[in-house]
Amino acid sequence: MVTVRPRRLRTTPAMRRLVREVEVRPSQLVLPMFVAEQSGDVSSMPGVSRHDLDGVRFAAESAVRAGVGGLMLFGVPDDEDKDPFGSQAWAEDGILQRGIAAVRDAVGDEIVVMADTCLDEFTTHGHCGFVLEDGKVDNDSTLTAYVEMAVAQAAAGAHVVAPSGMMDGQVARIREGLDSGGFDDVAILAYAAKYASAFYGPFREAVDSTLQGDRKTYQQDPANRREGLREARLDLAEGADLVMVKPAGYYLDVLADVAAVSEVPVAAYQVSGEYAMVEAAAERGWVDRRRIVEESVTAIVRAGADVVLTYWAQELAGWLK
Ligand code: PBG
Repeated sequence: MVTVRPRRLRTTPAMRRLVREVEVRPSQLVLPMFVAEQSGDVSSMPGVSRHDLDGVRFAAESAVRAGVGGLMLFGVPDDEDKDPFGSQAWAEDGILQRGIAAVRDAVGDEIVVMADTCLDEFTTHGHCGFVLEDGKVDNDSTLTAYVEMAVAQAAAGAHVVAPSGMMDGQVARIREGLDSGGFDDVAILAYAAKYASAFYGPFREAVDSTLQGDRKTYQQDPANRREGLREARLDLAEGADLVMVKPAGYYLDVLADVAAVSEVPVAAYQVSGEYAMVEAAAERGWVDRRRIVEESVTAIVRAGADVVLTYWAQELAGWLK
């Protein structure tokens, strides 16, 4: 005789709804957006575009209407604006700073405006830092540029800066720079555990990346779980206001580890490759697109994410309303 019957709690939609452990909220979703001099499509990410300054205002307003919680802005400079140092990353009139200002002008405080704090979109070699003659990406000199960039983003109106370059000590230095620049209210979302992942492939097309080589000397080895926790602990000690794990769906173990120890909110980034694979399979009719989108984001929240960055943020928010 069967006496224990977990199926009793699955009998009706009402019962299942009653006992559901997590539910994704639109307000915990963050939409990544690309801002460029000219608008255009990203062929490896159907449904995602690069926005020019007018377009980004419009896109931000429509994200607000959908109830999305935040925007993460990336700058895509023209090729002629790239140099080995990535100096447009912190120029007052750099594309990202103009994008942040345009978005803040359009949406005010109605949504949290975040900016990616990293040099790779702005450097000719595509690395996240300064490259020495021997090809090494130099940690400590790069930090100076990150501080300048974070301050420029804060001055342009970012509520949150998000250092994603995986240089050691970046959070502490940026905190110090923001505070001494008078931006002690600007929060830091630290890409704490960021892996050297093939899942960033489509993003590189989105930002027209010209990466030479790879990022394995600064991003983490996908084989390392414990190291994800170490990175998160360091960023927490350096004063991160939120910590992030990236990619998300294939790193749920790391995410759960970080969520278990973090006293600040934990974010996870469902990256371009996670998006593109589902879109490609759905286009062929091989998977149920909506169910996969909902399930994949639910799994990320279940694993411990308080905030989820996803290219589906706006569409998902619409379904959840
Ligand atoms: C670095 C950055 C990258 C992504 C977000 N921030 C690229 C990289 O580290 O190579 C990838 C995001 C995605 O794949 O969706 N500026």
